[in-house]
Amino acid sequence: MAKFDPATAIQDLKQFGEYGDVNPSITDSSTFTFLGAQTMVDTFEGTQEGCFLYSRHWNPMNRYLADAIAAMEGTEMGWVTGSGMGAITSVMLEICNSGDHIVSSRTVYGGTFAFLKNYLPKFKIEVTFVDITNLEEVKSAIRPNTKMIYTETVTNPLLDISDIPSLAKISKENNLKLVVDNTFTPMIVSPYKLGADVVVYSMTKFINGKNDCVAGAIAASADFINALSNVNTGTCMLLGPVLDPLRSANILKNLHTLHIRLRQHSSNAMFLAKKFKETGIRIVYPGLEDDKGHQKMKEIMNPSFGFGGMIAIDLKTKDLAAAAMEGMQKRGVGYLAVSLGYFKTLFSNSGSSTSSEVPLESQIEMGLSSGLVRFSVGLDNDIERTWQLIEETLKELKVIK
Ligand SMILES: Cc1ncc(COP(=O)(O)O)c(C=O)c1O
Repeated sequence: MAKFDPATAIQDLKQFGEYGDVNPSITDSSTFTFLGAQTMVDTFEGTQEGCFLYSRHWNPMNRYLADAIAAMEGTEMGWVTGSGMGAITSVMLEICNSGDHIVSSRTVYGGTFAFLKNYLPKFKIEVTFVDITNLEEVKSAIRPNTKMIYTETVTNPLLDISDIPSLAKISKENNLKLVVDNTFTPMIVSPYKLGADVVVYSMTKFINGKNDCVAGAIAASADFINALSNVNTGTCMLLGPVLDPLRSANILKNLHTLHIRLRQHSSNAMFLAKKFKETGIRIVYPGLEDDKGHQKMKEIMNPSFGFGGMIAIDLKTKDLAAAAMEGMQKRGVGYLAVSLGYFKTLFSNSGSSTSSEVPLESQIEMGLSSGLVRFSVGLDNDIERTWQLIEETLKELKVIK
């Protein structure tokens, strides 16, 4: 793969406010005036560039953020949504019609899993869940009415690595769309550059990095984004999951520090992963050389951002996981909370929280232990001290000596 540098692509953007402001002016109007009636008609029909109609359709501030997301992904266009689920569900409903079929990774975020399993049947859209790392299983799940392969670059919460180039090849051969949720690995992996058709994000996580809002994004070809925002037929235009432009302004500024934050998240995660490994506790982190996803991750990742901030450890039982999380929170390691990509470390027991939508049998089938603790490692300046606090907690619980 040709080397791609998403951070420089963002840095090179020249986006100014109306007075030469170094940050684009915040445009928080819901509607826009036209000097001529015909210009309004042309804007409605999509033949007039540079004009805005109504903020559920497009808003100048949202456009700046969408352009920055497109630059980061190397796509022609982007669109920003009020949540990650707003992005994911809009893309699915844009691509699939009633009677269609989706092949999805079985290890996806619990909300996505619930939408695929419980909600899409309303529209007679069927889903086959597969082990996305088993390409033969993916191929044999494809049917004549399949429209999409859906996966996460690094799956939630088991941190399996999707072989995006091979999945893209399978998609192209079968005339399907490959949709990739890259929430865990912005900049680290560029799915569109690897052949995916559509990239989706929960910007709530690393991209914004502050846990002060919920937001999402879609990056794809101009044709796809224009179809999504088409006034007559576009799923985003008609379902209305638009992002508040005040939020766009904040997220855009945070995006410009993402590369630096990612390096710190990654190096702290690597440090903790190695320490956990030394204790003999089962740990999943694609940065570890003997991790099942290490080689694949090395093949698909962009250089210099590290292997990401997510690690998962297996404490075998839900009770032990609960006691460890409470102990770590008490000692100041971080917070017992769902979500990720925050400047502080967050940890949760996936089976009973973010993956609780996944039925127990499916959790067992996919290897999700009831004692799995997922960490989103923070930006700690002294990660050795953080490890000492974790070690004290685990010793107190007699998990380690
Ligand atoms: C991988 C992944 N995708 C999507 C989502 C949904 O995003 P949001 O909460 O912004 O709707 C989440 C939320 O936890 C997630 O972890």
